[in-house]
Amino acid sequence: MPGRIVVARKYPPNVVARAKAEFDALVFDKAIPMPELFQACRDHKAEAFLFSGGNNQFLDATNIAEVPPSVKIAATISVGFDHIDVAACRAKGLIVTNTPEILTGCTADTAFTLLLCAARRFGEYFRVMHEQGGWKAMGGAPLGTRVHGKRLGILGFGRIGQAVADRGRGFGMRILYHDVARKIPEQERGAEYFASFEEMLPHCDFLSLHADFNPRTAKIINARTLALLPKGAVFVNAARGGLVDEDALYDALTSGHLAAAGLDVFQQEPDFDTRFAGLSNVFITPHAGSATHETRDAMGFRALDNVAAVLGGRAPIDPLWR
Ligand code: DGY
Repeated sequence: MPGRIVVARKYPPNVVARAKAEFDALVFDKAIPMPELFQACRDHKAEAFLFSGGNNQFLDATNIAEVPPSVKIAATISVGFDHIDVAACRAKGLIVTNTPEILTGCTADTAFTLLLCAARRFGEYFRVMHEQGGWKAMGGAPLGTRVHGKRLGILGFGRIGQAVADRGRGFGMRILYHDVARKIPEQERGAEYFASFEEMLPHCDFLSLHADFNPRTAKIINARTLALLPKGAVFVNAARGGLVDEDALYDALTSGHLAAAGLDVFQQEPDFDTRFAGLSNVFITPHAGSATHETRDAMGFRALDNVAAVLGGRAPIDPLWR
């Protein structure tokens, strides 16, 4: 008798096919709000659901009581779990899992692409070539900021931060980082540790965020910390929009303090602050850090592996609490 699950948003066809082949799956083709998800779980007598955060999917103290008792596991198809109150899930006895490791490489690729495109003004070049009939419209290509050989500061030196450092090393960059604790030498691989985030900032030609979003890191990028970056620095965020005070970032980009920014994430998603789309020195993407066929399939498969383990009476592979 296959387990009964609800798939609460649109996932890649391979993930949906596997969900249907291995489980009695009720599948939605768009992200449904949590009350609808809980009702679907009740109707389907589901033992598990797959979801992913975003503006309308979260699990916290305000709605945890609504999770029907039949549900044993909530599997988020994401590495980030700031949409989940893990303590509330634990208090209820609801297993929650995420999909770590799998998306490290693609997210690091995205962050470094944002860095290059923002620094080298590729967004402006793209628009003039695609939409304005070519470079004659520019009156000469506007000059960007050199990347190779510069200093790359990284906030959050976990798996993704370290993978971004690897890409920076490939460009001959000097790597600086801040995290709550210093990493072992095998993880640092020559990167310079700053115990104080603020002391690192004046040394960063580029700053890339790879920290979790939590009360300690909320709006860690604000008017005060942005002012500590050297004039002409380039800022990159492929982590979480909540790390940034967006008004302060907008001011730093329009005042000329920052040369440019590459942004994949925003405080509000998908209804992001469109002021950033109007700035020629900002290169933006739609929270697409892990958005490749290979990685999104692997993330979905990992979530299904977690569900299969729990419904089969085994321990989850990626539990968020033990
Ligand atoms: C993650 O997996 O946390 C990515 O940011 C997608 O939400």
